[in-house]
Amino acid sequence: MKRVLILDFGGQYNLLIARRVRECGVYCEIKSFRITMDEVRAFAPDALIFTGGPATVFDPGAPMVDPALFSLGVPVLGICYGMQLMMHLLGGVCQRADTREYGKTEILHTGASLLFRYIPERAVYWMSHGVEVAQAAPGFRIVASSAGCRHAAVECPERRLYGVQFHPEVVHTQYGRQILENFLYGVCGFAREWSMASYVDEAVAECRARIGSGRVLLGLSGGVDSSVAAALLQRAVGDQLTCIFVDHGLLRLNEGDEVERVMKDQFHVDVRRVNARELFLSKLSGVTEPERKRKIIGEEFIRVFEAEAKKIGKVEFLAQGTIYPDVVESGLGGESTVIKSHHNVGGLPDYVDFEDIIEPLRRLFKDEVRQLGLELGLPESLVWRQPFPGPGLGVRIIGEITAEKVEILQKADAIFRQEMANAGLERSVSQYFAALTNMRSVGVMGDERTYDYAVALRAVETQDFMTATWTRLPWELLDTVSGRIVGEVPHVNRVLYDVTSKPPATVEFE
Ligand code: XMP
Repeated sequence: MKRVLILDFGGQYNLLIARRVRECGVYCEIKSFRITMDEVRAFAPDALIFTGGPATVFDPGAPMVDPALFSLGVPVLGICYGMQLMMHLLGGVCQRADTREYGKTEILHTGASLLFRYIPERAVYWMSHGVEVAQAAPGFRIVASSAGCRHAAVECPERRLYGVQFHPEVVHTQYGRQILENFLYGVCGFAREWSMASYVDEAVAECRARIGSGRVLLGLSGGVDSSVAAALLQRAVGDQLTCIFVDHGLLRLNEGDEVERVMKDQFHVDVRRVNARELFLSKLSGVTEPERKRKIIGEEFIRVFEAEAKKIGKVEFLAQGTIYPDVVESGLGGESTVIKSHHNVGGLPDYVDFEDIIEPLRRLFKDEVRQLGLELGLPESLVWRQPFPGPGLGVRIIGEITAEKVEILQKADAIFRQEMANAGLERSVSQYFAALTNMRSVGVMGDERTYDYAVALRAVETQDFMTATWTRLPWELLDTVSGRIVGEVPHVNRVLYDVTSKPPATVEFE
């Protein structure tokens, strides 16, 4: 299988480049530009992509690479900083641009380059740069320009070296996908070979080889990643796998039962479910401070998991559902500054007696994990589950958590999700849920005065969950949901819709 090596210079869109390449059916990995030539040779890339980055190529200390990379004989695509670096190293000149180009920019291409095949002469591309190429390296020619940037794209087709000043990976670039396809299929001659249908067997074989006759322990959370990991490991090593499912009672309506049923009945996984609802409720009794609630849930979760793991005894492997963005964002895969220290990556739990960690989804993006889940036969309802926080409904109930409040929220949330599905919006909105405010207010039902809870609905659109915009849901949908919740869920007499984005709000309420 062909492999693309993406050298990371710390740009903000680098994961996106990798995703786009994978979407084209080509396998790729992101590595820091600090990788040595020996490591590059060991990786044996069939093509290289240089990402953008915040540095200025002619400043002291700017990220550099060994020019020997250009003599490997494999095609190279330099994007933004990556293009400037390629020019700089091969004898071209870069300079500070007169005007910084930022945003959607019209670019004209000459029609002579394979990189712009099937693309209209004039189109809109995403630019974000303050440095430009003043003179291309010897042997290169200009194949696209904008009003403010003569070297918007350059090429040396004889050596299969290409550079673009714009970002083909972002959606604002009109024909960005086509540019990448032209590079991967046209220039490199690759075909679509990376798909989850073809990866299943490889992944199973890899797990088998790694695990041998060892025992594997996996924590099931009810979420997509751990469920897919369980299905994959089950196929690979069968009953050598044991899953612990700590049900803290703060899952969505019927969620715990569904996960258990699918895993046990359909996949014959050895699932040890611990119903710890009462325990969690008692620990949370009287606690109102959000961070304190999170802490209690987190600590108690580990304690319960640990007690269950002790019953199993020593295992050779602890499996985790780490996925590729976690790896890269933790600063392990590429160069990107650590965006968040992911709880799954790096820190090893000390509360289970194991020898090694196995992360069967470590190379996959979220959409690939979902595809893999479907390939393995997991139901769509599970595979398309939304992100759900570890502390569960605990961070969606403001104030003290009680059994009654959990029940109210589960019912209200289920109605909202049902109606989103009926409206055909279940997959197009990034995340949506109901939360229980700690507010009670006066209402009238029948001829009676009520004094009951207000449920808040939240729906957001986001790429990365670092920022999010509230979703403009149709009024009719909100009307239906509101009517059903107030009509069907006791102790709710008011439904509110959250119209705040992140920032300044967060996605969750606590
Ligand atoms: P916030 O509320 O931080 O949420 O804007 C961003 C995304 O992260 C999820 N989230 C969590 N996920 N454990 C998790 O596994 C947590 O403690 C947690 N808190 C928030 C949230 O659902 C959203 O998708």
